Amino acid sequence: MIKADSTGNPVHLKAEWIKAAGKPDDVCPLFTKSFSVDGAVKSATLNITALGVYEALINEKRVGEFFMAPGWTAYQKRLQVQSYDVTKLLKAGENTLSVTVGKGWYSSPMPGWTGPDNDKTERINRENGFIAELVLEFEDGTKKTVPTDGSWRWQESRVRFSELYDGETYDASFEAKEKHSVACFDGPNETLILQEGEEIREIERLPVKKIIRTPKGETVIDFGQEISGYVEFTLNAKKGDGIEILHGEMLDKHGNFYNENYRAAKAVLRYTCKDGLQTYKPHLTFYGFRYIKLASYPCKPEAEQFTAIAVSSVQKQTGFIKTGHKGINQLISNILWSQKDNFVDVPTDCPQRDERLGWLGDAQVFIKAAALNYDVERFFKKWFRDMRAEQRKDGSLGSIVPDYLPNSSPSAGWSDAAVICPWVIYQAYGNREMLSEQFESMKKWVDYITSVTTEKYLWEGGKHYGDWLGLDAKEGSYRGASRDGFLAGAYYYYSTSLLIKAGKALGRNMDEYIALKNNIYKKFNSVYKEYKTQTEYTVALYFGLTPDAGKTAKELADRVIKDGVQLKTGFIGTPYILHALTDNGYAGLSYDLLLREEYPSWLFPIKMGATTVWEHWDGIKENGDFWSADMNSFNHYAYGAVIDWIYEKAAGITHSESAPGYEKAIIEPHPDRRLGYVDVTLETRNGKITSRWEYIGDNIKYEISADMPVTVIINEKKRELSPGKYTF
Ligand code: BGC
Repeated sequence: MIKADSTGNPVHLKAEWIKAAGKPDDVCPLFTKSFSVDGAVKSATLNITALGVYEALINEKRVGEFFMAPGWTAYQKRLQVQSYDVTKLLKAGENTLSVTVGKGWYSSPMPGWTGPDNDKTERINRENGFIAELVLEFEDGTKKTVPTDGSWRWQESRVRFSELYDGETYDASFEAKEKHSVACFDGPNETLILQEGEEIREIERLPVKKIIRTPKGETVIDFGQEISGYVEFTLNAKKGDGIEILHGEMLDKHGNFYNENYRAAKAVLRYTCKDGLQTYKPHLTFYGFRYIKLASYPCKPEAEQFTAIAVSSVQKQTGFIKTGHKGINQLISNILWSQKDNFVDVPTDCPQRDERLGWLGDAQVFIKAAALNYDVERFFKKWFRDMRAEQRKDGSLGSIVPDYLPNSSPSAGWSDAAVICPWVIYQAYGNREMLSEQFESMKKWVDYITSVTTEKYLWEGGKHYGDWLGLDAKEGSYRGASRDGFLAGAYYYYSTSLLIKAGKALGRNMDEYIALKNNIYKKFNSVYKEYKTQTEYTVALYFGLTPDAGKTAKELADRVIKDGVQLKTGFIGTPYILHALTDNGYAGLSYDLLLREEYPSWLFPIKMGATTVWEHWDGIKENGDFWSADMNSFNHYAYGAVIDWIYEKAAGITHSESAPGYEKAIIEPHPDRRLGYVDVTLETRNGKITSRWEYIGDNIKYEISADMPVTVIINEKKRELSPGKYTF
């Protein structure tokens, strides 16, 4: 059991920070302290945090289920303290508290592709240490505290190396010969806060699907599903036997192991056996993988010896979708997995290669989908506070939170996460307190754009990622053909309009920003009189920038058809295009795009065997070739944002902006025979909503139920209904 706090107030521990004095480079130190328990314990609490990641044991039993605690925050400003109820782990007499500390995100070489020119070098050289206090309360009312201090000892642990990109090395045969003194040091005290986010936990165990002998002669194990986590193995071995396991997402077209796309991340697991039967799983790191290659293994591998264990910060599913289309059902499963795999304390772009970073653009486009799929309120509340902590004095924000690229310039669609994300979470859960907490930061972001633009009411200048990975990019470029200034101006408008909505929801006077919004609108439309790409049309419609939605929608539809009923969009256009079409009368065309099976489409990766969402539609091409290894993740949730269209348009479940948290629901389904049926249930803060439709012969049967008042719109007929179940 772990306590959590929502105030973000500092906490103080009556203990000292300790580290391993004279520690050999990579070995993770194991700190120990023995103490006696004399008397009946009423309760015992361990308050603990680390610079790095820790695993604490009391009398050899793990404290809590939080993996990679204390998680990942903007460490210089905020460090979470975990508070565990450990009463049951204690015994009368002599007890031992032991803590192993690893590098984690704190002293990681992230991001992998950058040189020593940013603060990466400083990060790599950071020393790991921890602080803890074990507070015992006895039945007779007395108390005893076991704090970290100079009396602790450390020894080399069996974790010889552990790091986020490169993996873990463990020597089960290692016995530490000596214990050393610890050094107390001046660690952070003013920035300690109680746990705010979700815990990262083991969420699922997957058995081996297949053991493969590849054409190259490699032994590869397929778990049938890409996950974030690790492999656990159990075997009988001799002391000194070696195991080496590599991790990969895909096999190449010949069926051989492949992980070139991990770039600099080695993602290796090395294990030295002890004598006899033994079970191991990594302690202080995790991997993104579906396949493992047994580069060395001391005996014939048997399926029962291996289990893949998935870890994630999301545990409570809130959105449930079933359809009559096999490919779409697989797509939904892939999206849920990509969310689980990338929501490991921070929303990341991908869980495998040398990134695994909190990219703002990716989170921004996916956040609505994320909040429909799972309960992510607490997860984001913590991350928003990190976003605020990383916001620079001038109101700007880089492209990653926690900001491991502190010199990066703000980018349209990425840094706009400062406004879009809190608004979406407020809409999903109706938490005004969170919105009010974020409001100043949202305002500062819009003010930042106003302060830096070189052309009043447009966002000119700066460096942007554009319509990242747009399919209309020039050969060799990752940036789609949409104009930077167009997208930047459009986001300036969009962020301003959401800021106004947030301000109004909080009862503030937003006149100044309403005037700004109107001016941006006018200026934008005087400069951008025509739209040049699918994404530009889409954004103009979705953000409400076009003066003539009917005309723009028609042109977008024509354009999509002319392009061969296929997407030409990237990170910016893809999440909105089906909405833009459906909202303006082109639901059929949205379905055409959704159900397309040839490249480029959501279903093409399904045809190619995807179990998560890919960064590129053709991560694997029709002929089996890979996209270049340098930017080819098979677990990138951004394009999975399409699932919000299934909830909101196919099943038609929404709410008005003035009824956040689904105080009152709206159900307006858009059925299409090609899906057969759609059955969606959403668990909201105000109860359950179900929308089901099915084609029966030439008729459509609608079944709707809602725990709150609901407006149902079917065949343009609007009905205001009280909570209940209805069939049409
Ligand atoms: C990441 C993306 C990210 C992008 C920024 C990539 O390397 O994986 O998902 O948003 O960089 O353009």
